Amino acid sequence: MKKRLLSVLLIGAMALSLVACGGNNSSSSSSSDGNEAAAGDEKKVESNGKKVGVAMPTQSSERWIKDGDNMKKQLEALGYEVDLQYAEDDIPTQQSQLETMIAQGVNCLVVAAIDSGALVNVLDQAKQANIPVIAYDRLLMDTDAVSYYASFDNEGVGRKIGEYIETKADLANASEPQTIEFFMGSPDDNNAVLLHKGVMSVLQKYLDDGKLVCKSGRTSFEDTCILRWSQETAQQNCENYLTGFYADEDLDIACSAFDGFAYGIKAALEGAGYTADNWPLITGQDAEVMAVKNIVEGKQTQTIFKDTGLLAEKCVTMVQAVLEGSEPEINDTETYDNNKLVVPSYLCEPVSLDKDNYKELVIDSGYYTEDDINSAN
Ligand code: BGC
Repeated sequence: MKKRLLSVLLIGAMALSLVACGGNNSSSSSSSDGNEAAAGDEKKVESNGKKVGVAMPTQSSERWIKDGDNMKKQLEALGYEVDLQYAEDDIPTQQSQLETMIAQGVNCLVVAAIDSGALVNVLDQAKQANIPVIAYDRLLMDTDAVSYYASFDNEGVGRKIGEYIETKADLANASEPQTIEFFMGSPDDNNAVLLHKGVMSVLQKYLDDGKLVCKSGRTSFEDTCILRWSQETAQQNCENYLTGFYADEDLDIACSAFDGFAYGIKAALEGAGYTADNWPLITGQDAEVMAVKNIVEGKQTQTIFKDTGLLAEKCVTMVQAVLEGSEPEINDTETYDNNKLVVPSYLCEPVSLDKDNYKELVIDSGYYTEDDINSAN
């Protein structure tokens, strides 16, 4: 374990030609090639007059803005009308947005829930009105009103975070124990539970054999989850951990499930006097532009790149399936049991991003420009 060098003030982003997930860029909504364009026109005629309601959780995190933009752009390119709504992480607002969409007679609903279990009644209304529902990124729990689910391999996200830590900290060969704290996702988000499972499938053995030491003792999902993925709570938790458990030795690893958490952790570490000399390994999720900037600058170590353009493509094939009777791409019919049914899913592959591969993943692909990264704040 590293010893603290300084005496610390403890204060506290539609190209159907893209097949494999993890490929290419977010703004690939319409085809540039002649044949595909003609196919697009045919679809446009079929989809004329149909309206899709898209309910997104919040604009407070960059990924959801990209998700909403991509869904709208790709659906409109096929001729659908789109009603895109954000609920700013307020459950009653999302419920009433969905009620309004149902009352307006949308033909299909795409829902990224704030609280995965809080929409049972409103989704039942959708079912009564014969409006098909597709779960976007987050599984809709406890309802049989959902037809398909488009997401990423959520346990895979956690596994990749764990594997990154395992490799970067060279846990298999480390001769000294390293300290670690966990910052996990919202308890009302099924993705968060799976992510923690994925992380622990890699790291639990190192906690058991003492190569990883969690001084707060908080390693379970219940003890480390953070309601509504709040950056502020992550910062507060980190401040509390640093004050309560790391007065005499450094925190070496912050296992964070979200870029937003990584920003809060960074602020807490700066407040506690951490510098480049003792800065811990910090993980994240979403490859937000700010996170990529922090990675370039050494203030965050890693994140998980989830190509939201590609996720939107997969979700759009599901919308077409329920509205036009076509076959959606499905690659999982076993994992996502929402307590009422196992929802047929398409899971995109998450990719680990750090300083060594960010150029290839997000710059060369056109997901971001260098300027987006330099000007992030
Ligand atoms: C998503 C993550 C995102 C988190 C917080 C999760 O449901 O899968 O990509 O970081 O919500 O918005």
